[in-house]
Amino acid sequence: MRRYLFSENKSFEGEPFDAVVIGSGIAGLYAALHLDPSLKVAVVTKTGLDGTSSWQAQGGIAAVLTDEDRFQLHEEDTFRAGAGLCNPEAVKVLVEEGPRDIKQLEEWEVPFDYDESGRLILGREGGHRLRRIAHCDGDATGRETTKRLGQLLSDAGFVTPFFRHYLVDIVTDEKGAAGVLLYDEEKRLYRALSSRHVILATGGIGQVYAHTTNPRGAVGDGMACAFRAGAACENMEMVQFHPTTLMAGEVDDRLFLISEAVRGEGAVLRNGRGEAFMQGKHPMADLAPRDIVTRCILKELRRTGEDRAYLDCSHMTRDFFYHRFPNISARCEKEGVELTRDFIPIHPAQHYFMGGVKTDLWGETSVPGLYACGEVSCTGVHGANRLASNSMLECLVFGRRCAEAVNRSDRVAAPEKLTLTADAPLVSLSREDLSRDRRELRKTLSHAFGPVRRSGVMQYGLEKIRTLANRYDHVYCADPAVMELCNMTLVGLKIAEAANARKDSVGAHYIED
Ligand code: SIN
Repeated sequence: MRRYLFSENKSFEGEPFDAVVIGSGIAGLYAALHLDPSLKVAVVTKTGLDGTSSWQAQGGIAAVLTDEDRFQLHEEDTFRAGAGLCNPEAVKVLVEEGPRDIKQLEEWEVPFDYDESGRLILGREGGHRLRRIAHCDGDATGRETTKRLGQLLSDAGFVTPFFRHYLVDIVTDEKGAAGVLLYDEEKRLYRALSSRHVILATGGIGQVYAHTTNPRGAVGDGMACAFRAGAACENMEMVQFHPTTLMAGEVDDRLFLISEAVRGEGAVLRNGRGEAFMQGKHPMADLAPRDIVTRCILKELRRTGEDRAYLDCSHMTRDFFYHRFPNISARCEKEGVELTRDFIPIHPAQHYFMGGVKTDLWGETSVPGLYACGEVSCTGVHGANRLASNSMLECLVFGRRCAEAVNRSDRVAAPEKLTLTADAPLVSLSREDLSRDRRELRKTLSHAFGPVRRSGVMQYGLEKIRTLANRYDHVYCADPAVMELCNMTLVGLKIAEAANARKDSVGAHYIED
């Protein structure tokens, strides 16, 4: 694996910061808001707030928020969904500290949905035994939370934003993290920030698959930068497929999600003949953990020869559905689905990544001074399959913990110069080469490392992806479009290697043969 995507040996004068946060989703914003305001902090984003996965999140934030709920129940549901592979200590931290972070959001006036007596309205999703999911504007929790945190951060004054800056690499020296190399997409020039604390909150990898709910920017670039910097990874074979994305084609390269909260309000999965097919498949039927529902749908489609299943919401009144799920209603309507008359056509698609950069309980990776939180990280809370709406909770709890660790860190000031070394020789690829390879990578990952896997196909997939990744180890990176594909092939390779290495079938890593 090459060390840097940069193509010459060069030293940069680094603009000095105490901490650099990469990413503007909920994990990055919440981490930045918890950094000591006396620190000089940079927040770097290639997309802005509305290009993040957080912005799209519909369901909400799961936590123990009522007297009838208990930590033990939330922990058990998390473990059961994670097929036993969760790290018990990380789950305990998540579940026990989560309510405090929801309280913090309430104090910061994130506009949660409340009933007339001022209590949080709680939803339910797959794998949860009871209602414990706080939400905003029905199905726009991510958008509303990100907006509010972004506003607070721009009011805070101690943060320097770097918009439209692409993370090229994390620079390291013998002491660990030393800073970052960025590419300013507006001015088309490189820029280096030096810092002994780098918090990665760059989100997921969905775009390495052919069909995903993730936004265009979810290409795993932060993850790939961490791997090049020497950070360890974990659970790279664990890819989550959401059971219900709308059968309506991609807009901006992503599929529209029909939140699991719709089934939480009683919607039922049916085949094309109108038959409910989840009964008897799992004690929680339509609200079984996500990997199980996804596989049941695919099996049912194989049995019937159909290309889609349906969500029957007909027991809900039009008023209730429009009020509870305003964004889903609007999108269905746009696609010509009449909710009181039609079933919603759905199909599973890639949605979330349980694997990532391995961290300890304070978000620190195996590279000193490099932290990770949110989807880019693998804190161990999700195991082999994430419990619904635990992801935003993880962003909050472990984003805050990264900041707390930085606040008490005694790592010294960053070096003035950041030195990068280049590998040679490098070759240039044409735009046509790039599009062909991108298509090939996405197709191979979807075919070989989807929700149902076969050993022989995984081996074939690994060989194909290894060939691609080897080519991108020697590609001249003139701009982020090329860097993106280097990152995607590296992440794809790690997924393929991990999937081939794990011989047991567990959670999202389901091997049919
Ligand atoms: C959903 O609303 O179904 C997705 C929430 C999540 O990914 O946990």
